[in-house]
Amino acid sequence: MSDFVSDFWNLYVIVIVTGSILACAVLLIVQGKATFTPGKTMGHVWDETLEEYNNPMPKWWSWLFTITVIFAFVYLALYPGLGNFKGMLGWTSVGQHTTEVAKMDATVKPLFDKYLAMDVKAVAGDKQANEMGKRLFLTYCMQCHGADARGAKGFPNLSDNDWLYGGEPEQIKETLNNGRMGVMPPHAQLGADTVKDLANFVRSLSGLPNDSVRAAKGKEAFSSAGCIGCHGPEGTGMHAVGAPNLTDKVWLYGSSEATITETINNGRQNKMPSWKEFLGEAKIHLLTAYVYSLSQGTK
Ligand code: HEC
Ligand code: HEC
Repeated sequence: MSDFVSDFWNLYVIVIVTGSILACAVLLIVQGKATFTPGKTMGHVWDETLEEYNNPMPKWWSWLFTITVIFAFVYLALYPGLGNFKGMLGWTSVGQHTTEVAKMDATVKPLFDKYLAMDVKAVAGDKQANEMGKRLFLTYCMQCHGADARGAKGFPNLSDNDWLYGGEPEQIKETLNNGRMGVMPPHAQLGADTVKDLANFVRSLSGLPNDSVRAAKGKEAFSSAGCIGCHGPEGTGMHAVGAPNLTDKVWLYGSSEATITETINNGRQNKMPSWKEFLGEAKIHLLTAYVYSLSQGTK
């Protein structure tokens, strides 16, 4: 529970809580001693037939009330409730949560340890491990990569075999552990004409319709402007910097001339968060295997 800044509120709560329960107890005692005149009406009549009698409360009802009052005192002695008093059992909701998590961890730890000791490729072939990986993926990764891991604009598809940073287990694990920061620098300084040449050349790389004269000029600009430094001389990309392969049909942002022009002019920046601290080794191992398994058997 939160701590009060001054003792006043602490006392205030204690006085109100004990006061109310005591008031109930007093009411019960007073009622128990009151004299009744069973069977005699008090002379008040409502709605023609509704008469007021002076009968005692039913015994079961008084007892239930008495037990409630006793329960309240016992509860407040054992559990927190009276101002800052922590209760004799020392129970806290945080403590209960920690114990439950520890219990859960103890049950699943042997399972996590078993998979952690196995090779990623072997884990990827294990049905139970894949189900665990999928659950983790749906909890932590779905919001960006989609439930089916097929991504969206700016968020890579993880279920194909096209990789910004590489699809070998070590590369996927490195991506998950430390995150990735993809930076495509802006190139508007090349001038609109050259950028248009480049866009046509980029489209030609994957066989999309293009202006061949511009594409030829764009090919030269692709090396002279330094694109090859990241995307490689053939435009097939580079895992070390996360530069996409421009020769395939997979697009992170889009293949239209307008989108490519926008990418070249303004550049792109993209961040995959790091998960090492948050998820820990065992969960990352399972997720690596799950992500690895998604693209197996695809082209
Ligand atoms: C906040 C959004 C976000 C979340 C959450 C997220 N990712 Fe990513 N992820 C990205 C972005 C953006 C990239 C691309 C980075 C780039 O372009 O440089 C990426 C890249 C990747 C890559 C590299 C793909 C490649 O082609 O090399 C993998 C693998 C990956 N994410 C897996 C995961 C897993 C597993 C999780 C869950 C633990 C996860 N991501 C959670 C945004 C996210
Ligand atoms: C410093 C390295 C670097 C240089 C130089 C560079 N790029 Fe890139 N490029 C990248 C990265 C990294 C990405 C992916 C950005 C991301 O992850 O969001 C990218 C993305 C792209 C894309 C988007 C691809 C898609 O799938 O949507 C195109 C098109 C592109 N670059 C073309 C070019 C051209 C043309 C040049 C030269 C004018 C160039 N790049 C120079 C690193 C570079």
